[in-house]
Amino acid sequence: MKQHLRIAVFASHGGSNLQALIDGCASGQIDAEIVLVMSNNSKSFALERARNHHIDTLVMTDSAFPTADAYAEELATQLARRKVNLICLAGYMKMIPKRIIEKYRNRIINIHPALLPNHGGKGMFGIHVHEAVIAAGDKETGVTIHLVNEVYDEGRILAQKRVQVLGGDTPQTLQERVLELEHQLYPETVGKIASGEISLE
Ligand code: GAR
Repeated sequence: MKQHLRIAVFASHGGSNLQALIDGCASGQIDAEIVLVMSNNSKSFALERARNHHIDTLVMTDSAFPTADAYAEELATQLARRKVNLICLAGYMKMIPKRIIEKYRNRIINIHPALLPNHGGKGMFGIHVHEAVIAAGDKETGVTIHLVNEVYDEGRILAQKRVQVLGGDTPQTLQERVLELEHQLYPETVGKIASGEISLE
């Protein structure tokens, strides 16, 4: 069923995927609104990108809360206050509290820079993923967008895009090419979720 999406993007670093989602909303490719950008890292450039587009920002670090429950409760309050109904992880490097996963079941998606189920799981993020692809001698890699559940990188796959690994590739050159694909696939997929073409149920 088509539902107007109110998106929260969680990001920890540069936020180039956040930018792709912002641009997708601005161009009309995604019929939705980004209502919040949350980061665990006050220096994340994602926060600046959000401010440039007048999107509400929030910095939340679990270590600033007395308990994990208190952190989860505050996060739930912040999301409910803005009537968020889709959470997009875009290079977010922290575990999502179980309580948030339960409350937003099938409403949290993640982008991963490899072809899951290959090269996923704990410790598999950013450049480490591309190092693992090259070390394994894979001939192709790519991007996966998937639902988030309690297990790292294991939720249902919603979309994938493939790219060849070339002979002279380093983790860095591979990362650049995969990132270009990410910037296409993330807005495309969120656009399809917004239009109802991809169902999360
Ligand atoms: C992206 O390549 C994203 O796929 C990856 O972090 C990068 C963030 O870049 N995420 C993971 O590795 C999750 N396991 P960005 O901050 O420029 O969007």
